Amino acid sequence: MDQTKAPYFQALLEYVDSGVQPFHTPGHMQGHGADQAFREFVGDNILAIDLTPMPGIDDLLQPMEAIKEAQELAAEAYGADHTFFLINGSTSGNQCMMMTAVNPGEKIAVPRNSHKSMLGGLVMSGAHPIYMQPAVDQEMHMDNSVTPETVERTLDEHPDLKAVYLVSPTYYGVAADLVAIERIVHERGKLLLVDEAWGPHFKFHPALPISATEAGADMCINSTHKMLSAFSQCAMLHQIGDRVRLDRLKAVLKMFLSTSPNLPMVASLDVARRQMATEGPALLSRTIELAEEVRRRLNEIDGIYSFGEELQGREGVYDLDPTKVTVRVTGLGYTGYEASEILRKRYNIQVELADLFNVVALFTIGTTREAAERFVYAFEELARDDRAVDMYAPSGILDQRMTRGTYQLPAIPPMRMLPRDAFLADTEFVPFKESAGRICAETISPYPPGIPVLSPGEEITPELIDYLRLEIRAGVRIQGPYDDELKIIRVVQ
Ligand SMILES: Cc1ncc(COP(=O)(O)O)c(C=O)c1O
Repeated sequence: MDQTKAPYFQALLEYVDSGVQPFHTPGHMQGHGADQAFREFVGDNILAIDLTPMPGIDDLLQPMEAIKEAQELAAEAYGADHTFFLINGSTSGNQCMMMTAVNPGEKIAVPRNSHKSMLGGLVMSGAHPIYMQPAVDQEMHMDNSVTPETVERTLDEHPDLKAVYLVSPTYYGVAADLVAIERIVHERGKLLLVDEAWGPHFKFHPALPISATEAGADMCINSTHKMLSAFSQCAMLHQIGDRVRLDRLKAVLKMFLSTSPNLPMVASLDVARRQMATEGPALLSRTIELAEEVRRRLNEIDGIYSFGEELQGREGVYDLDPTKVTVRVTGLGYTGYEASEILRKRYNIQVELADLFNVVALFTIGTTREAAERFVYAFEELARDDRAVDMYAPSGILDQRMTRGTYQLPAIPPMRMLPRDAFLADTEFVPFKESAGRICAETISPYPPGIPVLSPGEEITPELIDYLRLEIRAGVRIQGPYDDELKIIRVVQ
C-alpha cells in the first residue's frame, strides 16, 4: 500500500474544500457557533474538520471508505492482520481485549503491575484473574516485566487458562521477552494479549524492543498518543492470526464507541501512522540519540542515577526503551514527588511521572535539543551543594528504610472474591487504617502510574495499609477510591 497517503485526513480536507453547507452535528457548525475565545485560540481549521460520520467521510463504527483504508494502512505499517482505531485510549483497548478473549468465570493470567484499565476489563468481562508476579527490582524500587518462566509456571499450575495478558513495556520502559512468551503461550493453544500502550514506536526502529505484533501476539494495544504524535485518547488495537474471533472483537469495539466519534482524533491517528511509516526511523534515531546523551550526562551528576543498558539481563528486564528517561533522585535526599514539584516550580519543567524514588521523563519525536538541555541543567542545579536552601529543601520524608534501599514493595494480597463479584456486592465504608482483613470493593492505584496495589475482591493487609499511608504522606495522588484521601475505604459487607 502507499504509506505516503493519509486517506482519512484527505477525506476531511476534501469535505472542507467542497464548501458544503452543514446542517448536521456538531452544533458549532464548523466553528461558526463556537465560543469566540476558544475559536481564536484553537483556530478555524480544527473546528472545520470536526464533523460527523456521513458518506464520503466514513463511519468509525462501520468503516467502508477512507477509515477502512486508513486502518488497513495502519495494519500494514504495524504488521497486523487488522488494526482498529480507538478514541478512548488504551483504556478502552484493554477493556475490548478482555471482553473479546474471555467469558465470565474463564481464567486469564494477568501481571500484577497492570494498568487499572485491565481491572475494568476484568469487572466487565467477569473473568477470573490469575495474578502473575512481575520480577521486582527492590534496589530500583521498580516492578519489571513478567518472565517467560513465570508465564510457564502459571500455565502449568492453571491448565484451564484461556489467555495470558502481558504489559510490555512497563511505564519505565522495561520490555518482556515477548518472543519466548509467545512460544510458550501458543504451544499450549492459549491466547496472548499484550498491553503495549507505551510501545507504539517500537515497530519503527531497530534499536527499540521488538513490537508485540512482530512477536506474534493475538491482540495488542498501542497508545498512539503517548509516544507518537496522535491526539490524546488516540490508540490502536492490532489483531494478528486466526485465534481471536474477529466477529466478537468487532461487536465489542462497537459497544465501546460513541456514535459520534471525534473526527480530528481519527485523522490524527491516520497521520501519526503516515509519519511513522515514512519518517519513523529517522525521527526515532534522533530521539534515541538525544535521550542516550541526556542519560549519559545525568549520570555524571553526583547523587543522580538514570538507568540504562546495564540493567538489561536482570530478572524481568529483557529489553529497554531508551526513550524513557528515569531519573533516581534519592541520592539528593528528595523523593521523586518532591523533585517533580521542584522541577515544575523552579525550572518550569513537567515530567510524566514521579514515584517515591524517581521522576520519569518522556523523550519523543517532539522533544527538542533545547528542551533536553534545559532538563539536564535543572538536574545540575538541583544537585549543587551551594544551592540556596529554600522551601524546596528535602522534607525528610524519605525515611531510613527507603534511603537504605530496603523499602519493600507490598506483596500481592490474597484474592477472596472475583473482581466483578466484589465490585457488584453490597458494600460499606470503614476507616482505612482499621480495614485490615476486610475485602476491598474498589481499585486503589497510586497515580501515576495507575497500577493498582489493591483491587476489588482482595483482602486488605496491614502491610498494604502501611504502604499506602506512606505513599499518601509522600504526596502521591491515589486514584480509584470513593474517598480521594483514603481516610475511608469501601469494603464488601
Ligand atoms: C500500561 C498502560 N496501559 C494502558 C494505559 C491506558 O492508556 P490510555 O491513557 O491511552 O487510555 C496506560 C496509561 O497510562 C498504561 O500505562
